[in-house]
Amino acid sequence: MIVGIVAISKNFAIGKGGKLPWHYGADMKFFKETTTGNAVVMGANTWRSIGKPLPNRLNIVLSGSSSVTPPPEVMRLAEKAEVVDLARYLNRDVYVIGGAKTYADFADVVEKWIVTEIPLTVEDADTFMPTDFLDEFELDETRDLGDDLHVKILHRR
Ligand SMILES: NC(=O)c1ccc[n+]([C@@H]2O[C@H](COP(=O)([O-])OP(=O)(O)OC[C@H]3O[C@@H](n4cnc5c(N)ncnc54)[C@H](OP(=O)(O)O)[C@@H]3O)[C@@H](O)[C@H]2O)c1
Repeated sequence: MIVGIVAISKNFAIGKGGKLPWHYGADMKFFKETTTGNAVVMGANTWRSIGKPLPNRLNIVLSGSSSVTPPPEVMRLAEKAEVVDLARYLNRDVYVIGGAKTYADFADVVEKWIVTEIPLTVEDADTFMPTDFLDEFELDETRDLGDDLHVKILHRR
C-alpha cells in the first residue's frame, strides 16, 4: 500500500528553510516505529534535509537530476511511475515521507494518510500542504502521542 505520512501545523505548514519547523521527540518516535521495516520515498530536498539513509527501511530518493547521488544502499528513482511499479512488487508498505512537492505528486495514488497535528501556528513557514489534501479521505482512528500531539489515520473513500 502507498501511505502518506506528514506532520502538519495548524496553518498547514510542513517546512521552513529546508527543515521541519519544530522538534517533537514523540512524533519522531512514532514516525520511526510506523515506517521501520517498510520503504520510504522522499523528494531530493527532503533527502538533503535528512542527510543520511533512515535505518532499517528501504530508502528511495526521487530526483530527475544526476547531481543527486545518494549512497549505494539508497535507491534513486527519476519518476513517480517507477515508485508505483515497485510498490506492486514489494511485500511491504511504501511511505511517502515528503516534502510538499513529493506529497503533491503522489496525492492521487496515496491510499491512506497518517497525519500528526502539530499544536502550533508557524507564521514564517515556507512549505505547506494544500488545505484540501484530505478531502477524499475518511477518518479511521485518532491516536494521542502526548505533548498535545494527535495523529489522524485516514483511508481513501
Ligand atoms: N512536516 C513534514 O512531515 C515534512 C516531511 C518531509 C519534508 N518536510 C519539509 O518539506 C520541505 C521540502 O519540501 P519540497 O517540496 O521543497 O521538496 P521535496 O518534495 O522533498 O523534493 C522536491 C524534489 O524532489 C524531486 N522530485 C519530487 N517529486 C518528483 C517526481 N515525481 N519525479 C522526479 N523527481 C521528483 C525533484 O528533485 P530534482 O529537482 O532533483 O529532480 C524535486 O525538486 C523541507 O522544509 C522539509 O523539512 C516536512
